[in-house]
Amino acid sequence: MRLANRTRNLTSFKVVDFLEAAQALEAEGRDIIHMEIGEPRYPTADPIVMAARQALTDGRTGYTPSCGIPELRQAIADHYQRCHGLDIDPRRVIVTTGSSAALGMVCELLLNPGDGLLLADPGYPCNPNFVRRLDAEPQLVPVNAADNYQLTGELVAQHWQTNTVAAMVATPSNPTGTVIGREQLGELHRAVSDQGGALIVDEIYHGLTYGDAPAPTILSLTDDTLVINSFSKYFGMTGWRLGWMVVPESVVDTLTVMAQNFYIASPSIAQYAALAAFQSETLAILETRRQEFRQRRDYLVPALQALGFVIGRPPEGAFYVYADVSALTDDCEAFCWWLLREHGIACTPGTDFGHHLARQHVRFAYTESLPRLQLAVERLTKALT
Ligand SMILES: Cc1ncc(COP(=O)(O)O)c(C=O)c1O
Repeated sequence: MRLANRTRNLTSFKVVDFLEAAQALEAEGRDIIHMEIGEPRYPTADPIVMAARQALTDGRTGYTPSCGIPELRQAIADHYQRCHGLDIDPRRVIVTTGSSAALGMVCELLLNPGDGLLLADPGYPCNPNFVRRLDAEPQLVPVNAADNYQLTGELVAQHWQTNTVAAMVATPSNPTGTVIGREQLGELHRAVSDQGGALIVDEIYHGLTYGDAPAPTILSLTDDTLVINSFSKYFGMTGWRLGWMVVPESVVDTLTVMAQNFYIASPSIAQYAALAAFQSETLAILETRRQEFRQRRDYLVPALQALGFVIGRPPEGAFYVYADVSALTDDCEAFCWWLLREHGIACTPGTDFGHHLARQHVRFAYTESLPRLQLAVERLTKALT
């Protein structure tokens, strides 16, 4: 079969390679601590599961409106009111099949072949592939601890090229867990607008921050931006494949036509279930989990530092620690395979997240329980000392 040229430019999602290798070892009877995949290891909260059962009983199994059932779009809008005091028109909320579909759609909305999209390096591995799929150009901007591992207004101005049309950030970030402050979000938006471009902000890890205040949403500064979010992480619904976007009124119709054509509708059962995600009972469960994530982060960061991992910026959110391993190895991939095969710890090599200093970094996810993380540190101690 002759495949399209663009398929040759796609890069594999290394975290999945490691997950599959870890699962193969488990099938042989080995105990593996999963610190590779970015998935909360909690079952979906009970009220959501019960709402899904009810939706099945009620026969809610057909296609829904392409942009989502109105009750869910309203519930998401209300969520912004509750968390950020914002009045969002539910028409601007578009429900998608995971934020992955939203990422693909915003790229399709903005990029012609040959156009460029600025992305932070390191960043979420799939983003460059969404861009390549359109024969457009991912323009990776090296970011460092000094920049909080995020694009800044200054970096945008410096790296904007004649073919660049947009910039995308994630806050909190995957893989570094860093959050973009309100002022920096404003600077970013100004820098992108000055170039006549569009700003995409992936807020999928919102809700999972460990300071006193929630991470600021760009929507509190401007409506002129494309915001992406998901039920996967904070709401613990990875397998339900449900996300959303909040977009300017001017692009709602175009995105509606895309949704109609590209996936008809998001999963109906998941949408009815997600209505229960905003109930106070569910939010109380999610708050307990958030506190557990915080405890794990507070344990893992100093424990890794004591073992020689250098953490350039303390993670403020998500559930990842991005660690410099140059004191321990000069090849993060070989290091990760060794940790997996010899010591039963699965983690992700920095090379999954870009090119910039990638070989000297590893990402640890703290999605397993505290006792399992303590066991991981015990195994690491044995491996490295
Ligand atoms: C930054 C970021 N954006 C988007 C996604 C996609 O998530 P989903 O399609 O499950 O919403 C992920 C998944 O790990 C992610 O880390």
